[in-house]
Amino acid sequence: MLLTKTQISEFASQGFLVLKDFVSAEACDRLRKRGEALVQDFDPKGVVSIFSTREQQNRLADEYFLGSGDKIRFFFEADAFLPDGSLKQSKERSINKIGHALHDLDPIFNSFSRTEKLRILSSELEMSSPLLLQSMYVFKQPYIGGEVTCHQDSTFLYTEPIDILGLWFALEDATIQNGCLWVIPGGHRLGLKSRWVRADEGGMRFEIFDETPFPEAQLVPLEVSKGTLLILHGLLPHKSLPNRSSKSRHAYTLHLVGSDCHYPDSNWLRRSREMPLSGF
Ligand code: FE2
Repeated sequence: MLLTKTQISEFASQGFLVLKDFVSAEACDRLRKRGEALVQDFDPKGVVSIFSTREQQNRLADEYFLGSGDKIRFFFEADAFLPDGSLKQSKERSINKIGHALHDLDPIFNSFSRTEKLRILSSELEMSSPLLLQSMYVFKQPYIGGEVTCHQDSTFLYTEPIDILGLWFALEDATIQNGCLWVIPGGHRLGLKSRWVRADEGGMRFEIFDETPFPEAQLVPLEVSKGTLLILHGLLPHKSLPNRSSKSRHAYTLHLVGSDCHYPDSNWLRRSREMPLSGF
């Protein structure tokens, strides 16, 4: 057993778990080095794709994003650009994230993501033969790292029944100053507020189930050290504030989906036939 009975019941009641020192500092550094190397090799010419939850129109129209489910693609911070379209900081300091199939396409990310420890962990949290659905390398850049507004991951990765587990690895210390995660303890019991669904006319739209806003006064910060794994229930409301500090806050996230649930084709993330999902 990796988790104690207390941790398992805590996850059930709170919707999240904090596992300090889950991965070694060396493993974090290896992934960090690889993430940075990918950015160095990336040629941004012709690809100006701004990722921002506040600018839905940009994002909705962005085929680059919608086609990234089985690729390795690069997304800029919304605040990365000067009015003339040039970058304020270096390319390395301008990328918001890399997504969304790092775990299948890159050997270093693959070996970080497919471990016996994670397989055991997911089964202890009652996911039977989960599949690795999505991976992201999130930079949360110094000074310009953007806010991620309060959301539930199941809004973006919708399944019937809800069967999504988010794994969030701190590759550096995450603090209030550099934009750590904030969660609403027990908020996974509020039900799913909305889902992001492919629209008939192309692009995406939100389907609202519950107009009540998230009780954001109940958000608590999760300040965690490098090597910590945060586990989030797919329904747990969470957010992160902008990073205005001089320190980056690199994280790697992996989303697991139960193999028995229905994953509608109307989700944004689609895989080509040649790249089916696989497990640990
Ligand atoms: Fe999320």
